Amino acid sequence: MDAANASTKPSRSAKLSARHVAKHFWASGEDTPLAALSDINLDIADGEFVCIVGPSGCGKTTFLNIVAGLLPFDHGAIEIAGRSISGPGQDRAMVFQQARLLPWRTTFDNVTYGMQLHRRFTPAEMAARAQGLIELVGLKGFERRFPAELSGGMQQRVNLARALATDPEILLMDEPFAALDAQTREFMQAELMRIWQEHSKTVLFVTHQIDEAVYLADRVLVFGTRPGRLKAEFKVPFPRPRQLAIKRRPEFLALLDDIWALIEEEAERAGLVRGGADPAVTP
Ligand SMILES: Nc1ncnc2c1ncn2[C@@H]1O[C@H](COP(=O)(O)OP(=O)(O)OP(=O)(O)O)[C@@H](O)[C@H]1O
Ligand SMILES: [Mg+2]
Repeated sequence: MDAANASTKPSRSAKLSARHVAKHFWASGEDTPLAALSDINLDIADGEFVCIVGPSGCGKTTFLNIVAGLLPFDHGAIEIAGRSISGPGQDRAMVFQQARLLPWRTTFDNVTYGMQLHRRFTPAEMAARAQGLIELVGLKGFERRFPAELSGGMQQRVNLARALATDPEILLMDEPFAALDAQTREFMQAELMRIWQEHSKTVLFVTHQIDEAVYLADRVLVFGTRPGRLKAEFKVPFPRPRQLAIKRRPEFLALLDDIWALIEEEAERAGLVRGGADPAVTP
């Protein structure tokens, strides 16, 4: 476990670098601002898969939205490949919990949608990329289906293909599998692993599920709450490719326990749970 990196300058060699990032909200009916994020310092290397976990309300979504350029921040600096961010950009793609597909567009046309907005690809390139990605996410044969004709898991696969289609440098994922049943979720994790290894994207992935984080990540960042901050980070030492069966190994479970203990401590500190919570229950 390492302490948060607190050097002042953004790292030039990192794909994503955050220094002293802070954000407050004025919530309705409150006299004092809420410190959603305080002094976040982190670096993510090119091609690294990093997960953020932490109790509800610790600022995970806020941080992701800031990196996506969807939300302004109070102070600090965020750089992507050495460039300061000032709003959304083609270098980032966001995948939300709900697939949010366009219901009047087919699978194929949903996957091409982002590329059409970007205006960087010729029609032939768009068609080839869309078809390749639809096959990559296992939806060959479903190109002409509309979202309402797809299961939740299939819709989320379309969503993933749509995000990858624009060839972003960083994929930002906010609990993308949370709405799926437990079994589909496990398969989607394995799929995402496979896709990530083929495309070697830099990924920042938020989840409540600690086993999901440890299975997927090179590094797990634990956020604390009130104020939201980076409390600790864990390197995940397991070699890749990882089979889902790794989740039952003692060393995997031991790492889960270590991370859980910190989250439980935070949740207790914030009054989200009382002492002695069951580790099976997500705060
Ligand atoms: N637009 C907003 N206006 C006021 N307060 C906000 C706003 N968005 C978020 N917050 C507050 O900021 C804090 C962090 O919220 P955020 O959604 O980032 O948490 P989170 O870690 O993603 O939580 P969860 O795990 O429940 O998704 C919370 O206390 C929340 O109430
Ligand atoms: Mg959230």
